[in-house]
Amino acid sequence: MRIEGKEYRTIWYENNIVKIIDQTKLPHQFIIKELKTVKDSINAIKTMEVRGAPLIGATAAYGIVLAIQENSNFEFIKKSSEDLINSRPTAINLKWAVDRIMKKISGINSDQILEVTLNEAKEICNEDEKFCENIGLNGLEIIEEIYNKKKDTVNILTHCNAGWLATINWGTATSPIYHAKKKGIPVHVWVDETRPRNQGANLTSYELNEEGIENTIIADNTGGILMQRGEVDMCIVGTDRTLANGDVCNKIGTYLKALAAYDNNIPFYVALPSSTIDWDLKDFRQIPIEERNSEELSHIEGVDKDGELKKVLIYPSKSKAMNLAFDITPAKYVTKLITEKGICDASEEGLKNLFK
Ligand code: MRU
Repeated sequence: MRIEGKEYRTIWYENNIVKIIDQTKLPHQFIIKELKTVKDSINAIKTMEVRGAPLIGATAAYGIVLAIQENSNFEFIKKSSEDLINSRPTAINLKWAVDRIMKKISGINSDQILEVTLNEAKEICNEDEKFCENIGLNGLEIIEEIYNKKKDTVNILTHCNAGWLATINWGTATSPIYHAKKKGIPVHVWVDETRPRNQGANLTSYELNEEGIENTIIADNTGGILMQRGEVDMCIVGTDRTLANGDVCNKIGTYLKALAAYDNNIPFYVALPSSTIDWDLKDFRQIPIEERNSEELSHIEGVDKDGELKKVLIYPSKSKAMNLAFDITPAKYVTKLITEKGICDASEEGLKNLFK
């Protein structure tokens, strides 16, 4: 998608270096950062210079490429792969991408290992782009149906950033919106600010602006009253881990939005590529929920009147704060899942019909 009219992907490989857009600086500064070692990749994932389930998976895949460039000793590659998986706990894509690469290179000659890994990392990115495009084409049908009934702007609420910045291109939740815009359907997006890191305000609104999509940032607690007033036609969010029974783990606050949507009879869709399905975990209580530094709550970053990036304390200095990064929305609150293979019920049967 475009930034200032120029097409980008979120991650690419050039002259033995991995390049990313540093998302900790958006929307105020657009900085392309270079990752040269596996440690750089792990750091980029931990500090959220790259974030979003599909993108951290792709960064981990390229992380193994960088590890092999540093040292092709198998013990080093294995340890690097474990460190990459452990760099963030909740999104299943890290493990999915690393396992896929490790399987591909098991038993491969050392003189081919770099080429095979690099090709697989590129394939993971190309596949994600294609899957996200298909999610968009499938989700477009839903937006189109609402528009055909309403014959007026379709108001869509989203939480966090499940946009192209969270994937390789298109996004998951935003892909149907971009496709609707391409088709000439008038859409307007209510963007949840998404405290504490403000991925909605800083990233979703930013990328929608760059693509010319009308949007309004709202405080996270505003969605409920907008739904009661009939100002939301549908909700669409992403997911970091989808269980085989259709339970969905996504950015903290998603669950409360799903409850409000349920109470107001507003459809609540979750868009996902199959790389975020965890076929093994049976109980959502077993999903590791990332707890991040409470400084993300107590401090806030923005630009001052001179355009300088500044971080300031906003809480009483003696207060404790707790920063859980994800929550779970049980399948019963999810109207449908939108995947690259089609739309299905948020249930074991629904997912198996599409994928197994
Ligand atoms: O903590 P983040 O910014 O990595 O969380 C991202 C989300 O919760 C997204 O909704 C999810 O990864 C899906 S991205 C297509």
